[in-house]
Amino acid sequence: MKLFIDTANLDAIREGVKYYPLIGVTTNPTLLSREGGDPVETLKAIRAIIGPDRELHVQVTETEADKMIEEAQAIVALLGKNTFIKVPVGEVGLQVTAALAELGIGVTETAIFTAGQAMLAARAGASYVAPYVNRLDNILADGVGVVSDIAQTFAVHGIGTEVLAASFKSPEQVIRVALAGGHTATLPPDVLKG
Ligand code: E4P
Repeated sequence: MKLFIDTANLDAIREGVKYYPLIGVTTNPTLLSREGGDPVETLKAIRAIIGPDRELHVQVTETEADKMIEEAQAIVALLGKNTFIKVPVGEVGLQVTAALAELGIGVTETAIFTAGQAMLAARAGASYVAPYVNRLDNILADGVGVVSDIAQTFAVHGIGTEVLAASFKSPEQVIRVALAGGHTATLPPDVLKG
């Protein structure tokens, strides 16, 4: 299983890449606002810390397709290669995913709660799908089970899109996701250290 750190905290990212075998950083608007300051400057600082070869996943904040596509292009222009655009799944999200894939921009389809959403995102051209494990558990659904369903569906159909499991509260959830076939996971700093 490949690992990301899920934070916009610069100290946590410095420590993360120093000690752990991370392939990148995932952020979201909440994580960026939690750090204060200008989110653009924070993202540039993250890229400077992790270098050009690790992945940086950044979510669009616009809600209309044309604006989301423009924002995604601006993010990639700012942060360079190995930058992936997080797009929340939904009708507009799938439309934007297909457009970005056509432009050669990597997409992480985020806020995935079902294997059906994951299949649609994969067929739209997403590089990754991000099921929210702990949030599924919180609504009395089965986060690990959803990861397992997605991984099996992708394997049966030879789909190259990777499962980037997200929303973790414990190392135990991570290991259960790994056993269920999750290809990658993004962990908050405390779960990574745990
Ligand atoms: C990742 O794509 C998500 O933004 C993140 O992992 C959600 O985590 P949370 O459920 O702890 O907010």
